[in-house]
Amino acid sequence: MSVEIKTLRDVEALRVVGRMAAETLMLAGAALRAGMTTADIDRIVHEDTIRRGARPSQLGYHGFPRSVCTSRNEVVCHGIPGPERIEDGDIINIDVTSLYGGFHGDTSATFYVGKPSPEARHVVEVSRRCLARGIAQIREDARLGDIGAAIEELARSEGCSVVREIVGHGIGRSMHMAPSVAHVGTRGSGLRLRAGMVFTVEPIINLGGPEVEFLADGWTVVTRDRSLSAQFEHTVVVTKRGCEILTARPGPLVNSEELAGSPA
Ligand code: MF3
Ligand code: CO
Ligand code: CO
Repeated sequence: MSVEIKTLRDVEALRVVGRMAAETLMLAGAALRAGMTTADIDRIVHEDTIRRGARPSQLGYHGFPRSVCTSRNEVVCHGIPGPERIEDGDIINIDVTSLYGGFHGDTSATFYVGKPSPEARHVVEVSRRCLARGIAQIREDARLGDIGAAIEELARSEGCSVVREIVGHGIGRSMHMAPSVAHVGTRGSGLRLRAGMVFTVEPIINLGGPEVEFLADGWTVVTRDRSLSAQFEHTVVVTKRGCEILTARPGPLVNSEELAGSPA
């Protein structure tokens, strides 16, 4: 399947919606408190998205019932917000996707609720660094396999594993488009990147094994060994000498980055 090359006008629209999604993610993360429910996060994301004149892309997507994915602890991704309460010591990924001006922006981060265990902190910081390491491979003429290889090497060297089943994706006028962006791979293999390609990088890193299970709700993905899992995601556009992060944040994340001081 061919991969779209975005026009400058498309990229400007993607920058606008990417910034919106980033700001909504920052707001939701800063609101996290033990005792609140994941449905409370959904309400915050939904209302902030609508207030900006945007739409939550995930609401109704293949029947997904909420406006945001909230994935706690051993939940790998696609957790459905509901009455479950967030507890002190949890890690939780919030994945925001917004539609504005005809284009989608997709970004997520994993947050700490209260003080994390050393294990929780390890998997979150490794996944933050894996996203940054993957993004650092991107420039015109690099290969998709370079991204996956860099992520896989870092995760392994830190004693963690990479989920195979969930991949990054092209994004634009649809939330999910070609290409698929694997978070494992071989350097020098796969699609050759061209300036103007837009896709997400969203590695999911597990503290234990890479295997996952899909729960009966049809959405929630968990680690098979119930070990902790963490994810960060950005939407990027390939440029001649690197890439631009379209979901770059205007400031640090509350409840996440203060422990690390890393930009990803
Ligand atoms: N934002 C998710 C991604 O990164 C999409 C989840 S689809 C949903 O691709 F329906 F589960 F919301
Ligand atoms: Co995505
Ligand atoms: Co996402």
